[in-house]
This record gives sequence, structure tokens and C-alpha cells, in this order.
Amino acid sequence: MDQTSDISIVRNAVRNLLDCADDFLIMKQSVDALYNVFSRITGVSPAQISVDKDIMLPSGKAISPSAAAHCLLEMKRTAVFLRGIHQAVLQKLNNRADKPVHILYAGTGPYGTLVIPLLHLFTPDRIQVDLLDINPFSLEALQKLIAELQLNDYIGYVFCEDATTFKLSCHYNIVISETMLACLKNEPQVAVMQNIIPQLHPEAIFIPEEISIDAALTNPKMEQDRLLYYEDEPPPFQRIALGNVFTVNKQNLDIARMQKTFEIPDEKDFPVLKLFTTVKVFGDELLSENDSSITLPVNFYDLRKQPAQHIAFWYVQGEKPHIESRVICKPALYQTEIMNSL
Ligand SMILES: C[S@@+](CC[C@H](N)C(=O)[O-])C[C@H]1O[C@@H](n2cnc3c(N)ncnc32)[C@H](O)[C@@H]1O
Repeated sequence: MDQTSDISIVRNAVRNLLDCADDFLIMKQSVDALYNVFSRITGVSPAQISVDKDIMLPSGKAISPSAAAHCLLEMKRTAVFLRGIHQAVLQKLNNRADKPVHILYAGTGPYGTLVIPLLHLFTPDRIQVDLLDINPFSLEALQKLIAELQLNDYIGYVFCEDATTFKLSCHYNIVISETMLACLKNEPQVAVMQNIIPQLHPEAIFIPEEISIDAALTNPKMEQDRLLYYEDEPPPFQRIALGNVFTVNKQNLDIARMQKTFEIPDEKDFPVLKLFTTVKVFGDELLSENDSSITLPVNFYDLRKQPAQHIAFWYVQGEKPHIESRVICKPALYQTEIMNSL
């Protein structure tokens, strides 16, 4: 395969991902096309998962090059991020007649999946990108890809650094970082946001713009039927919303605010407390439940095993970030406490 045809495959694939709305066949074909080009050029593929290494940081796990490569194949995640980032770039370009939009991409992985495919849609005088990842093998692979796709003119600095402690030395219009799992577990997304957002100009865009975790009581049969009969007439479906556990965005970065206590209503038909992660990428581009692994609902507590009166949630940072909870159990006269963590 020559360079020109690789470049045209990437161009077609990104156009399709931006335009295909919810056509999952086109989405799948497009991420597969990108994956074929990117894995052949870099030599990094998800099949290598056993040979390369995660890096354990004080703020969470930086996943290995092949695991990071695998994220490309999560088609809706990739499509929605590319659409949101494309819109953010267009919005910033509107306000900057003659200057390029300056982007920091923190946590690129070996493919730079969330930015590399978009670059050919612009000229280098309109968009300039600095790259950052903690993993030198990911950066080495990415630089090979950039050279082969003739994208060197779009790239500025390449930093092999920890995004949770990195000091910005210039002004960025957009910073992008997707270093997360559902319920903000294990990976350092919150620590990256806490470090970078306060260093940005107030007008700068951080992507994703917002991550929220919500709690609801669910009925296991209704949840299962809803997935099984997806194509047919939808079966009756209901949840008891408890509310927002916490939200992380430009305004909310303080760990002390990432906590909430809910009173548990007496709803015997809805015994399973689930947590739902929603990622607002940019503008209207959202990932919600089951759209991707980063927004999979998580079963948190089963009231059939031990009824509860109140549940308090809070977020714990460190090597394994996670949500923790304290459950105040019934009967009230003999209140007991159960500590839970995800
Ligand atoms: C989930 S992968 C995402 C890869 C790619 N951006 C995508 O969305 O497909 C996360 C990437 O961020 C990097 N990473 C995680 N934590 C980091 C940190 N604190 N500093 C720098 N890079 C980090 C990992 O090495 C990995 O390459």
C-alpha cells in the first residue's frame, strides 16, 4: 500500500465517521479501515496485549500501547470524540482569522486516534498539535504514523511526560485527554483534569467537557428485557433516579465536592443500585449508557442482600482511583454500616 492510498483511506474514513450519524455499519467499516492502516504502519495492534506493559502512576494506570490502540475499535466512542473535536476546532477557527488553533493532546496512545484522522481536513497553518504521552513506545509508534501520513507539518512538540504533573509552557486553545474507564475507575482522568484545567486560559476548551456519574435504582428484568428486545416494540421500562453522584468539569475539580448521600426509597421492585457514566465530549456530542466501555452502567449495590436507608458515595484518588460508599443499613434501630468500593 503506498502513502497516497493510506492518506486517502484515512480521509474517507474520517469523513464517514463525521457524517454517518448512527449508521453502525459505516462506523464499523470506518474504524476498521483506520485500524488497518494504523496497525500496519506502527506495528502496534490489540493482539499484542500480553507483551506490552501498563505504566502504574501515583494517579492511576496508563494503559499499554496495544490496549490504547484497541480504543480505536470502540466505534461510537471514536466517532463521537472525533465529531466533538472537529466542532471544537471549527469553533475556535471562527474566532481566529489568521492564526492556527493550538492543541495539546495528552494521552495520545500509539495511534493518536482522536486527532490524527482529522488533520488532513485542515491545513497546517490552521491547526497545530503538541503530543504528550507517558509511554515512550506509544510516542515512537505515533511518530512513525505521522511521518508515513505526511503530517509532520501539523506537529509541534512531543512530550514524554506525566499529564497529571505536566507544566504548560504555552497557551493552548484546546486540550484533549481521554484517560478514563466507566465510573472514573483506575485511570487518571480526574487527576489530568485537575492538573491541566487550572493552567488554561478561561476561554480554552478541555475535551471531554464534562463527565458525570448518576445513580438509579433498577429492576434487573426490565434492564435485561430492554437490551434483549432492542429491535422490537420496547418493553415497559422504568428506573428510580436517585440523582447525580458527582460531575467533573472546568468548574468542578475539587475532590471534596465529589461526594453525595442519597436516601434510598422503599421500592421493592427496583432492588439494584446502578451507577451511570455520561461523557459530554463537546457541545451536543455525548456518550451515554452502553455507547462505549467508558460509559457502561455498573451494578453497585444489591438491596435484596441487605436493605439500605442511606448510601453515601465519594471519590478516592491515588494509584487506583475509584468510587467508595458507606451504606447505612436497615433496620434503623440496629443500624449497621457497610463499606463498599467499586
Ligand atoms: C485510554 S488510552 C487513549 C488513547 C487514545 N487517546 C484514544 O483515545 O484512542 C490512554 C492513553 O493515555 C496515556 N496516559 C494515561 N495516563 C497518562 C498520564 N498521566 N500522562 C500521560 N499519558 C497518560 C496512556 O499511556 C495511553 O496511551
